[in-house]
Amino acid sequence: MATFISNSPAETEAFGRRLAKRVGPGSVLALKGELGSGKTQFVKGLVAGLGSKAPVTSPTFTILHEYTGGHLPIYHFDFFRLQDRQSAVRLGLDDYFFGAGLSVIEWADKFPELIPEPAQWVFFEMKSENERIINTREDDAIRESRIPLKPHQMK
Ligand SMILES: Nc1ncnc2c1ncn2[C@@H]1O[C@H](COP(=O)(O)OP(=O)(O)O)[C@@H](O)[C@H]1O
Ligand SMILES: [Mg+2]
Repeated sequence: MATFISNSPAETEAFGRRLAKRVGPGSVLALKGELGSGKTQFVKGLVAGLGSKAPVTSPTFTILHEYTGGHLPIYHFDFFRLQDRQSAVRLGLDDYFFGAGLSVIEWADKFPELIPEPAQWVFFEMKSENERIINTREDDAIRESRIPLKPHQMK
């Protein structure tokens, strides 16, 4: 778990830009945190960091926004208003999650069973009006694919 303290919307955006350097085709970022905790702010940085100038807003009612113009297509989901598992399945999530773009999902914790295993979780907490605590947890699959382990280091 890695912790980042943000003191402004701009700092949260900068954190997203930084994380953009560590994603590639097929990466999945699963975001969790209450309303106003900075998830969409983070996605703005992520999208800008990938070189897209697309305007970013929460896809609250449409569930999915797609952004192009960057190094990768970006699929921005918001599960907040997703009613049930069936409507989630109808979206054909796996085509996005296992496609050539980056998927980022707000409220991913609403349907955690739909989030593929090698996802990176990002947790947002509101500390005060302008302070946010952002924790990241990487699944082993991501970590292991990035840093080649020597045999004696393996579990
Ligand atoms: N440190 C911070 N990081 C992110 N947003 C912040 C911060 N401080 C204040 N804010 C405000 O909190 C709100 C975050 O909104 P948003 O990113 O849409 O949250 P979410 O998508 O999690 O509901 C914005 O109004 C933003 O200006
Ligand atoms: Mg949002």
